[in-house]
Amino acid sequence: MNILILGSGGREHTLAWKLDQDEKPNTLFVAPGNAGTAKIAKNIPISVNDFDGIKKLVLSEEIEMVVVGPEDPLVNGVHDYFLEDAELKHIPVIGPQRAAAELEGSKEFAKKFMTRHKIPTAAYQSFTATELEQGYAFLESLHAPYVLKADGLAAGKGVLILQDLNEAKKELRTMLVDAKFGNASATVVIEEFLAGIELSVFVLTDGKGYKVLPTAKDYKRIGEGDTGLNTGGMGAISPPPFVDQEFMNKIHERIVIPTVEGLKKDNLPYKGFIFIGLIKVGDDPFVIEYNVRLGDPETEVVVPRIKNDLTAVFQAVANQTLDAIQLELDERTASTVMLVSGGYPEAYEKHKTLSGYDQIEDSLVFHAGTQLKDGEVVTNGGRVMAITSFGDNFKEALQKSYKNIEKVHFDKMNYRKDIGFDL
Ligand code: AMP
Ligand code: GLY
Repeated sequence: MNILILGSGGREHTLAWKLDQDEKPNTLFVAPGNAGTAKIAKNIPISVNDFDGIKKLVLSEEIEMVVVGPEDPLVNGVHDYFLEDAELKHIPVIGPQRAAAELEGSKEFAKKFMTRHKIPTAAYQSFTATELEQGYAFLESLHAPYVLKADGLAAGKGVLILQDLNEAKKELRTMLVDAKFGNASATVVIEEFLAGIELSVFVLTDGKGYKVLPTAKDYKRIGEGDTGLNTGGMGAISPPPFVDQEFMNKIHERIVIPTVEGLKKDNLPYKGFIFIGLIKVGDDPFVIEYNVRLGDPETEVVVPRIKNDLTAVFQAVANQTLDAIQLELDERTASTVMLVSGGYPEAYEKHKTLSGYDQIEDSLVFHAGTQLKDGEVVTNGGRVMAITSFGDNFKEALQKSYKNIEKVHFDKMNYRKDIGFDL
């Protein structure tokens, strides 16, 4: 089958790696891809948001399925674009339509969805610039810390957690009145702070049935001990050891089922991944956020644990026959450690030569920000490469990743040496 994957990160390399192993051979295309996908697929230098360019590619290469990695094209309606085009509408797209992608595109939309379907989440109110005084009053009614969220997509930077009431008021004003996050903060959601440990649950739905995929925990901060700036993710573990069957049952009954049923009730067309960001407060799960895609680097630990033929699973999503699929999972723990450019998530240099990663044994190497330049693999982004390993427990898996990382080199390489420190 000719399959096009949209995106260029570790998530997309992992999906390509998995689809490359399926029973019937696939011819894979990745747009725009990275140096890792270039080895198993044809990279096409077009943007994930260039829908007309994607159309040309799909027609010229006779693409038979499109798998969307990041949220941007989904929120921009790439699935709808296909359905509305006579030449494209028969080609399955894995990823929700625009109306459903609002679950990630608008925090307010997601909160209303959760309220409507009685899905446990933090108490909240949302405000626009004309409601600044009401926003201040709501902040005064809460206790520190204060959680402010830009409603729209803000490249993962739109959430502020503040200890001080006056600071929170000042930031609220900056977001609403001074457009701190541009149009994304024209509406701000203020919510109750929930204290607990975070984890993510991934669900794949065809709009009728669904499969609960492995859970994962990612490590978002740049610094050891979860300190410093937020990143896209510095490492991940699947499954987090604190997720027992009883807790999983609560997640399933209180969150997964009402979410999938809610999508149906609200006529939100969904064929794709739902990434549910959760927080465990005491023994109970609460939803922090929805994403309408797989996570990165969570994909690098979740997808390798899926034993099924992924092409067959995606075809079942397209045909709405997912209920007939029996999901088979690797019971071992997978962990991944992200190698990043020195300076990331602030300014960093690119085009550093990568070496040693081809010496890695007993771990999987997923490229993220890499590029082929004059036949050489060089860095091309903040997050450069994820090293995934399996073990009987997360410590064993991590040990393998860390041992293999010693073989890898590029100028100013950085990584967190404490993934899993809190478990
Ligand atoms: P989000 O972009 O909604 O995932 O938020 C980014 C991060 O902020 C989350 O991963 C949490 O660590 C934190 N966060 C968001 N909402 C809350 C909340 N209500 N209580 C505590 N932490 C939160
Ligand atoms: N690792 C978090 C995300 O993909 O949003």
